[in-house]
Amino acid sequence: MDAATTLVLFGATGDLASRLLLPALGQLLTVEPDRRVRLIGAGTQDWTDADLKKVVQAAFTASDAADAVERVEIEYQKADITTAADLKRLLKGLSGQVALYFAVPPSVAAAACEAMTPEMLPDGVMLALEKPFGTDEAGAHELNARIAGLVPEEQVFRVDHFLGKSTTLNLLGARFANRLLEPLWSAESIESVSVVYDEKLGLEGRAGYYDGAGALVDMIQSHLLQVLAVIAMEQPATIGEADFREATSAVLRATRLWEGDPTASSRRGRYTAGSIDGVDKPSYVDEPGVDPSRGTETLAQATFEVRNARWAGVPFTLRSGKAIGDPAREITIRFRAVRHVPEGLRGAADGAVLRFSLGPDRMSLEFNVNGANDPLVLERATLSADLGAGQLLAYAEVLSGILDADPMLSVRGDAAEQCWRIVQPILEAWSKDEVPLDDYAAGSPGPAHWPFLG
Ligand code: BG6
Repeated sequence: MDAATTLVLFGATGDLASRLLLPALGQLLTVEPDRRVRLIGAGTQDWTDADLKKVVQAAFTASDAADAVERVEIEYQKADITTAADLKRLLKGLSGQVALYFAVPPSVAAAACEAMTPEMLPDGVMLALEKPFGTDEAGAHELNARIAGLVPEEQVFRVDHFLGKSTTLNLLGARFANRLLEPLWSAESIESVSVVYDEKLGLEGRAGYYDGAGALVDMIQSHLLQVLAVIAMEQPATIGEADFREATSAVLRATRLWEGDPTASSRRGRYTAGSIDGVDKPSYVDEPGVDPSRGTETLAQATFEVRNARWAGVPFTLRSGKAIGDPAREITIRFRAVRHVPEGLRGAADGAVLRFSLGPDRMSLEFNVNGANDPLVLERATLSADLGAGQLLAYAEVLSGILDADPMLSVRGDAAEQCWRIVQPILEAWSKDEVPLDDYAAGSPGPAHWPFLG
């Protein structure tokens, strides 16, 4: 049996731990039966080891992994991780492979990093930090500097579970392993790209975090820009962390708002009362804990340009919204039309469209063929393939990277800062109300006058 990895979970009593991390841990332990974990949960609540064990049991059961509980040594410690004394007590004597997972709000993570010193940390310790990483570019830079004083970059995991989603990773195989696609993957042949991740979910009781973040920060800054980077990256020589992360960072460094204009290139919306799947939803501003005067958006859209030789001139539009009826979740790559269609062939000859659907994972290619009824009239046909959901949940994929000390699927420090830099002009324009906050009814596809994407 492998030696156990010690996973110290800060924020063990919180929602992120019970809803996402622990079920993912259960799944990972089931798929990899030789893996053993010592889990030390830390939180400010008066819990006992048995209380944490109950939560672990429930979470593992939720991911069909009830049996794996026996392979986890579980312990709980009450601690205020923003104090040096509690951190020292918590980390004292830990050895072997150790990971510290900060499942806490960014301000608490930052305060904990402030209170930590390199001497407190076990050798080779991995630090895993949840998004959002900092609250702006300067804050992310400061936090990076602080963390760099604690451990080397290769031991830092800025978690983005979208990089663990199998569809995001499927992009690599589809593009880099097919001569049919790779030579066409540039502005020469591609007209536009969009990444849409809409959700039926509304606020789900997360006002404390979400009302201060909004859709732009919660989804576009944190996740969808990483997906853009994977779509637009140059071919890395390997998918080792150094090559892969350098290639995605290079894309982010080249990414700017479309025409540098935050008012023309961004849109925001907020849901009003409506119904989804027959269930009534209150207006966002009436959700418990929301401060309507913040003007927080629940739907955000922005268009970017990757200003390099491969992509200049191609709009990349990212969008994500909450409480959307029949939500789309897909990456759409629109190819240019051919320059000339032989005279005599009739009908539209629009460019091909390649789609990767982000759950259920599917890929499709829409293109022109000769019509079934009249072979001289063009028709559209679609080839599609199910890609399978991937063996691991996105969070389990990320967690396995952390426990194996492989940061390929985590966000490098410079990339985290770039993502803030890229959205900063939009945040400023929105704070000055230069872009209207459009209403849309919960359960609708979004504001009626927004152009269709996809
Ligand atoms: C999280 C956001 O990071 O990602 C949530 O904070 C969002 O608001 C979620 O709902 C979407 O990802 P998934 O994988 O749960 O669909």
